[in-house]
Amino acid sequence: MPKRIQSIRGMHDILPARSRAWQHLDATFGQCFAAYGYHEIRLPIVEPTELFARSIGEVTDIVEKEMYTFEDRNGDSLTLRPEGTASCARAGIEHGLLHNQQQRLWYAGPMFRHERPQKGRYRQFHQAGAETFGMAGPDIDAELIVMSARLWRRLGLENLRLEINSLGSSAARAAYREHLVEYLSAHEPRLDTESRRRLDENPLRVLDSKNPELREIIAGAPSLLNALDDESAAHFEQLRDLLDGVGIVYKTNPRLVRGLDYYSRTVFEWISDDLGAQGTVCAGGRYDGLVEQLGGRATPAAGFAMGLERILDLMDTQSLAPEMPDVYFCVVGSAAARAGLALAERLRDELPDMRLIVNAGDASLRAQLRRADKAGARLALILGEDEMAANTVAVKYLRENQAQQSVALGESPGVLRHALASAVPLIKQ
Ligand code: HAM
Repeated sequence: MPKRIQSIRGMHDILPARSRAWQHLDATFGQCFAAYGYHEIRLPIVEPTELFARSIGEVTDIVEKEMYTFEDRNGDSLTLRPEGTASCARAGIEHGLLHNQQQRLWYAGPMFRHERPQKGRYRQFHQAGAETFGMAGPDIDAELIVMSARLWRRLGLENLRLEINSLGSSAARAAYREHLVEYLSAHEPRLDTESRRRLDENPLRVLDSKNPELREIIAGAPSLLNALDDESAAHFEQLRDLLDGVGIVYKTNPRLVRGLDYYSRTVFEWISDDLGAQGTVCAGGRYDGLVEQLGGRATPAAGFAMGLERILDLMDTQSLAPEMPDVYFCVVGSAAARAGLALAERLRDELPDMRLIVNAGDASLRAQLRRADKAGARLALILGEDEMAANTVAVKYLRENQAQQSVALGESPGVLRHALASAVPLIKQ
């Protein structure tokens, strides 16, 4: 037998058992973004390598060691996108969407990073992101944060913590950088190889080190918040005031620096403690310099992206995955199968939101009920010989402790529709 071909490490199939949860998540963030007036933008998966090198930064984990970069047949260096912000800014500049305009955009799709795979960290993963252009104030930072908070509520997610910080202007960051290098240099013998290298090239990234042995040194480092320029400090103060006013709970974390270089001023992360090491489900901030850095006219911008696998994992741990399907229709015998086919069609006309599986393949009622249970249905409809004779259909509750009901079919399926609608709260009347 020929050798079987396997999927690439860290890149996963999304199997049918999982697709309903994905669709539910896709629909929920789509509605949530639309409710705030955001428009979808669909972007290519492959971009010129230079786009990411210039925006995310040469001295970052992503650009140094995680990108899927290859030469195409023309000899051009291309990269599978590791994130969406750079592409969004590139597209905005290219199509004239940014200059003197305000834009609220969202996107979703696969991203690629050659990281060490583990739970919550994959080489192909999915993000949904929102990006805004042309708005410089803290009001849009606050909007992005309340929009993400609304999404958690709509999904029913609990226990997400919000951390915020300000990275200040690039001038203030440069001044802070000198202080930081001075401080870290004094502790150089205790730094690890990675941090020593970063000390010269990108010292702020040392603050983001996950090495527990550096925790003490990092804790003693000068705080970026004390080094903010006046305008950034006022911006951050106003953001906090807006969040307080709308009842969003947050923690100011002066060590939050993010792993991408394009940020300035506000940065934030939503973190869950239920996911182990990969607990950040959503992250973002302002990137006021990026558009100009990519050749556009200076345009303030801010956004975030969330990791969809992590959100789905969290929904699993909090038992929020939607059940599937709503109803399994057991038809016993060929006459019932014939009548059942027509009845099921009428029900689908009447209740377009209901998910209804009609049994296929002859089987005893017991076997069909086993299938109904395995499919995860909440209700079974039963049409057997007795029901056919009495012109009724039985409604059996598979998840709740409720007596089976018998519903007359009559001329119209209205009564049955009512029974189903009251039995399955997911079904709208
Ligand atoms: P990021 O922090 O690199 O930011 O990624 C955002 C989120 O994507 C993370 O918080 C995490 O949930 C998810 N994520 C990242 N890498 C992986 C991975 N290997 N496996 C699974 N999930 C992952 C950005 O990408 C920025 N573009 C966010 C942004 C948008 N900032 C402004 N606008």
